Amino acid sequence: MAPVSDRFAGFLNSLDDRALRTALEFGYRMGTYTVTLARTGFDVVAVDQIPPQILRSRLTGCPDWANRIEVVEQRIENFSIARQFGVVVARDVLHYLRQDQVRDVLTRCIQRAPAGAGHFLEVFTDITRTDRQGRRVLIEDEAAYTADTLRTTIERLYTGWTLHMTLTQHAERNTDSPHNYFEANRITIHAHRRTNHELCR
Ligand SMILES: C[S@@+](CC[C@H](N)C(=O)[O-])C[C@H]1O[C@@H](n2cnc3c(N)ncnc32)[C@H](O)[C@@H]1O
Repeated sequence: MAPVSDRFAGFLNSLDDRALRTALEFGYRMGTYTVTLARTGFDVVAVDQIPPQILRSRLTGCPDWANRIEVVEQRIENFSIARQFGVVVARDVLHYLRQDQVRDVLTRCIQRAPAGAGHFLEVFTDITRTDRQGRRVLIEDEAAYTADTLRTTIERLYTGWTLHMTLTQHAERNTDSPHNYFEANRITIHAHRRTNHELCR
C-alpha cells in the first residue's frame, strides 16, 4: 500500500496526547490513510460511496489492527456523526460536494469534536479540468472553491481552533493525451481543538 504523505505524518505527530483514539475518514478509496490510522492504534470509521467489500477484501488476513476498521458505504453528506472522533480525515474529496454540504458536514464534525481533536483536510480549489480534446470540463454541484473562499469558510467554521493552512499546486496530465489534464491548488488544513483547560487560560 502506498505510504501516507509527509503532511499527514506531520499532522499525526502534532496531535494532542489527549486526543481520543477514534478516527473518521471520509472518502477513503484505497484505504491508505484508514490503514495507517488503525495501525497506529485508532479505531477507524471509514466512509465512502464505493462498495465496502473492496477494502474489506484487502484487509483479509491482516493482523489484529484490521479489526479496528469499520467500513461504511454511505454518501458523506448523509453520514450522521453519532460518536466522538479524536481525528477526522478528508483528503481530496470535499471538492466533490456542494459548498453548503461541506459546511454541514464540517459543522457536524466540529460540534461533536472532543477537546484535543485534530482534523486533517486536503481540498482542491481553483480546479481546471480538460478532456482529451482540451475542452474544459465542469462537474455539476462541485464546491468550486477558490483558495480564498475555502480559507474564509474554514476560518469561520473552526472558531477557537488552532489552524494551519498551506497551499501546494497540483497537476495531473494524461501522458497518452496531453490536452487531458487536471490542475488545482491543494489546500492542506491542520485544525486542532484546544483542550478545555487551554481555552480557559
Ligand atoms: C480522489 S479519491 C480520494 C481518496 C483518498 N482520500 C486519498 O486521498 O487517496 C475520492 C474518494 O471519495 C469518494 N467520494 C467522492 N464523493 C463522495 C461522496 N459524496 N460521498 C462518499 N464518497 C465520495 C470517491 O468514491 C473516492 O473514493
